[in-house]
Order: sequence, then structure tokens, then C-alpha cells
Amino acid sequence: MCSDFLDKVYKDEYKDPKDLYREWADTYDNELAQNEYITPIRTAKALATFASNRSTPILDFGCGTGLSAEALISCGFSSIDGIDISREMVEIARGKSIYKNLECFNPDKGIPVKQNEYSIITAIGVISVGAAPITIFDQVFDLLPQNGLFAFSFNEHSLMVPEYSLKVEQTVKEKKAEQLFCELGPHILKRDLKSMVYVIKKL
Ligand SMILES: C[S@@+](CC[C@H](N)C(=O)[O-])C[C@H]1O[C@@H](n2cnc3c(N)ncnc32)[C@H](O)[C@@H]1O
Repeated sequence: MCSDFLDKVYKDEYKDPKDLYREWADTYDNELAQNEYITPIRTAKALATFASNRSTPILDFGCGTGLSAEALISCGFSSIDGIDISREMVEIARGKSIYKNLECFNPDKGIPVKQNEYSIITAIGVISVGAAPITIFDQVFDLLPQNGLFAFSFNEHSLMVPEYSLKVEQTVKEKKAEQLFCELGPHILKRDLKSMVYVIKKL
């Protein structure tokens, strides 16, 4: 039923996000389209402002069903790989044939990506209450080479937990990254939810 999962996702009903996204995968795109999920296009547009070469390979971390890649492609990006912990979400993405490579991984075994393999990484709607914990931030950021770009979002629910925005502030304060973009704007229009979109560059 429409909006079922948007009602559940932030309520911590699921201990393991894999269980939530296994059940949600089939209806995810429809529910998000009906509720007007804006964060992917806002993040892709922000990234496009700073990425000089749109054919640079991108890692779409937490790619889900591929809504994030669809937004990136609409902004001209052409080489996108995706990884996610949910087999069911990845299978929907695979059916769209928009990713060069797609992989489902076990987060307990680490992220299956080599350091410096990608100079652009996105995590759109991924590091969040109800999805990947903020502890994953450093693991993803550390994969980038110097001058690599990290474009990501935190939704309103996550912004209420100080650890999320503090992590970005601390990364910038310690001169590990330069903040290129930070904008609060619409996340899911019909729910009147907002998100913060960031683009940071590794120093
Ligand atoms: C709200 S969806 C966002 C998917 C896609 N990026 C989008 O914008 O539609 C969150 C995704 O994060 C994934 N996820 C949850 N925990 C994760 C983790 N520890 N590492 C990677 N992905 C994770 C989920 O399986 C789900 O596909």
C-alpha cells in the first residue's frame, strides 16, 4: 500500500535495515515517486557543479533500486557503479541496466572497494536513521583519493541526531576535507521532509 514504508522507516521498527529493504524493494520506486523524493536530483545537480568530468567513474554507495543513478544520469554522469547491502534492492536496480557494475555486500565484512578506485562517491539517502549508521561515514570517505569528491545527504530525522552533522563539521575542521556545498532543501515533498545535501572534497 502506498506510503506504508515511509511511515515505518524512521521508527526503528527494523533492527536490521536488510529486513526493511527486503520488504520494501518491490514498492520502493512507486512510493517514492508518489511522494516526490527530491534529494537524488538535488545531490546530482550539486555534484555536477563541482565535477569537471562527467564520465569519471562514480561509486553510488547504497544505490538501492537506482533512483540515485537515474538522477546522476539526468545530470550527465555516464559511468556509475553501485553497491548496497540489500540483494532485493540491487536486483531492481539491475533490471534498469543503468549501472556499469552492481554488487550486493555484507557490511560486516567491510566495503568491497579498493582505496582510490573511485574519485567520486555518492551516498544519497543512505547514511541515515533507518539505513547505514554514521559510523560508515569515515569508511566511505577514506576510500577517496586526494581531491576526490563525496556527495551525500542527511535527512531531517538524521539531522536531529547531533552525530551526523558533527561528523561533517569535524572532518572539515580537522582539514581532512573542504566543504564545497551544503544546502537544506526538500527531501520528500509530499511528506514536507527536508534534507541537507553536501559535497565535500578530500584534502
Ligand atoms: C533510502 S534507500 C536510498 C537508495 C538510493 N540511494 C536512493 O536514493 O533511492 C537506503 C539504501 O541504503 C542501503 N543501506 C542500508 N544500510 C547500508 C549500509 N550499511 N551500507 C550500504 N548500504 C546500506 C539500503 O539497503 C537501501 O538500499
